[in-house]
Parts: sequence; structure tokens; C-alpha cells
Amino acid sequence: MEPSSVKFVDQDSSQIVHTYAKPDIDFVKGEGSWLITAQGKRYLDFVSGIAVNALGHCHPAVVKAIAEQSQRFIHLSNLYPNQPQIHLASKMLDVTGMGAQGGKAFFCNSGTEANEAAIKFARKYFDRMGQSHRTTVVTFINSFHGRTYGALAATGQDSLKQGFGPIPQGFVHTPWNDVQALRKVVNADTCAIMLEPIAAEGGVMSLSAEFVQAINALKKEFGCLLICDEIQTGLGRCGAIQGSQKYGLQADISTWAKSLGGGIPLGLALVSKNIAEVMKPGDHGTTFGGNPVACAAGLAMVNIISAPGFLEQVQIRSQQIQAGLRALSQKYAWLGELRGDGMLLGIVTEKPVSDLVAACREQGLLAHRAGGNVLRLLPPLTVSAEEVALALAKLDAACASLGH
Ligand SMILES: Cc1ncc(COP(=O)(O)O)c(C=O)c1O
Repeated sequence: MEPSSVKFVDQDSSQIVHTYAKPDIDFVKGEGSWLITAQGKRYLDFVSGIAVNALGHCHPAVVKAIAEQSQRFIHLSNLYPNQPQIHLASKMLDVTGMGAQGGKAFFCNSGTEANEAAIKFARKYFDRMGQSHRTTVVTFINSFHGRTYGALAATGQDSLKQGFGPIPQGFVHTPWNDVQALRKVVNADTCAIMLEPIAAEGGVMSLSAEFVQAINALKKEFGCLLICDEIQTGLGRCGAIQGSQKYGLQADISTWAKSLGGGIPLGLALVSKNIAEVMKPGDHGTTFGGNPVACAAGLAMVNIISAPGFLEQVQIRSQQIQAGLRALSQKYAWLGELRGDGMLLGIVTEKPVSDLVAACREQGLLAHRAGGNVLRLLPPLTVSAEEVALALAKLDAACASLGH
């Protein structure tokens, strides 16, 4: 058989390790909010590469930045200063306000690596401060911080850890939004409290105001650090540059990835001045981290999302989606609570979420799932009013196909 007549999904399953259950679909091109198959079928992409393609597919500013940087140098290594890295660091320190307080950036390649860096920096900080007993990282049940061992240990979903042998020690998981339970586990041995400003994979769960207050108060009382995982929430996804700032968390370290590289793998840990000051050459490192092409693409993206008016537009579109989702949950009794913020939205479903995701795909709408039987919508931040209206009509048709 000619390779061209073989389905992508069959080629995929014969050659790619089966760690994802993939549908029979063969995308060959992306255009803004759309993905297009080899047969010319168009799908409205409300997954955005799981919150990566913030500006949709192939945004001209990102394409241009990649083309230009790849003609200068594609890789340099962290043995030498690298200008695209410096420019993106400076922009990120500026838009987060970390720069004004003397904070610094450490680049890597992915979200899980950004969290590995955050955990290592937090523990090393206390070690250098003569408090090497402070190693415990308090994280949350249902949290998701990545798949490598340290980030996996931080992750509060036991099912993801089973069968992988010994998991690194020094992590305590406590229930989300449970102030009393949190107070019981934070103490003078706590190195850091680590959390997502919205627990995205775990079910698009927001923080209560009391919980934010308790986290900040415990941090102050015991002098531990606060690590905010902005990998999914950050860079406009929750309607602000930083979820932590929007919801009132006082982060010492924030971690970034997903859309940071404009679609090219890139991760980042931003650390406060006191932590940056005690790090020395050799403490941490990476061959590829902060790749110049990824940083150039990322800078083009961050310049756009931080321009005046951009995030206001995201909130307007978010309100449009939320109003549509509320109307649908009135119409379909099995649709429940609306969750999330900005372009990180979820709706609880009593029907199996995988059926709803498949029904959406049938209608030409790509949507994703989250824990707790939640349908997760992650549209591009640039989605238009017309595209939102079309997506809501497709979701309505998908729901109707599953019955009232
Ligand atoms: C909040 C959060 N942290 C960390 C990660 C891990 O990122 P990566 O897949 O780039 O390693 C993810 C990925 O979904 C995430 O959503």
C-alpha cells in the first residue's frame, strides 16, 4: 500500500508509543482558529494545542520571528549569552513586575522542566540559607505539574504515578480550597507551597478568596516560598498575564511554558531576587533551554498579548463564551457548573466527557477534557466573535446528538 493511502491514525499507532488515545483525523494545516484535514474538512480549534497556540495557528508575527531568527542562529547553548533569551527574559520580567523587584529568569524547554527548576531552586535557596531541613513542598490533590519525576511527585493525582516505582519524597498533598487541611500541613519545615492559580487539568477549579488569603498568611507566618505554576493559566489564558497576580497570590517563583515559545517548546522559571542571588554556576543547567528560535517566537507572541487592549478583548470573548455555556446548561439538564476564567473554561457534564468531546469533533469543533468529567475549552486568545458563535452552535449540536 502507498504510504499516502494509509490513514495517519494507523501509521501513528504502528509507530508511536500508545500514550495518547488519538482519533482518526489527519490534520495537514492550521490557519488562525482553524485546523484543516487532508480531505479539506475544517475544525474550529478550541484546544489550541492544549493552551499552546495562544495566537491561533501560524500567526504572521510568530512565523516572521522564527524565519528571521533561524537565519541568524538556531542554537547557541547556555555557555554564551544569547540575545533572544535576554530579550524575552526582560519582557517577561517586565510584564510580570518581577524585574522591578530584582527577579531573574531561568529558561528550559517545557512545563515539567520549569517546575523541576522551581522545586530545585526553592530547596537550594533554603540550603544556602542554612535551613537545609526545609525540603517539604506542599501541593494539592488533583493538581497537575508535569510528568518528570519531581514534577510528578508534586502532582496530586495518584493515578498518574502508579507503576513508576519510587517517587521522590518530600511532597505533601492537601485538598484544594480546604483552609483547615492546609493549616495542618504547613509548618517550619515547609520549603514551598506550590499551586496552579486555576487547577486546569484537575477539573478547571478556581481558588476561593479565603484559600488565597490563607496561603499568603501561612507563607508569611512560616517564611516558606510560594511557587505559582502559570504554565496553563499564564500569558493571557486566564484573562491576565499572571493568574497569581489576578487572584492575589504573592509568588516567589512562577513557572511558564505552553504558549511561551509561540508554539515552539520553551519553559521558564521566574525567581525573586533573594533566590536568584544565591544561585551559582553549575547549580542547574540545560543544553537546549531558552532556544533562540523559541525565545524569538515567544517574544513576538508576548509583545502581542501584552499590547494595550488585547486582554480586554480576551475578557469580552470569554463573557460571550460563558453566556453561551450558561444557556446550554439551561437547555441540557446533564450540563452543570461553569468553571474557569478567560479562555480557560470548563463545564461539568454528567454524560461521559469523552463522548461529548467526540460529539464536538463530529460537529467540527475540537474541545478537550479535564478531570472530574469536565469539558474544557481553550480557544485561541485571538478567537473572533463569529468563531465563538459558531463554536457555541457546534457545541449545541453536539449536546443535542447526545440527547436531552
Ligand atoms: C499547570 C501545568 N503544569 C505543568 C504542565 C506540564 O507541562 P509540559 O507538558 O510542557 O511538561 C502542564 C501541562 O499540561 C500544566 O497544565
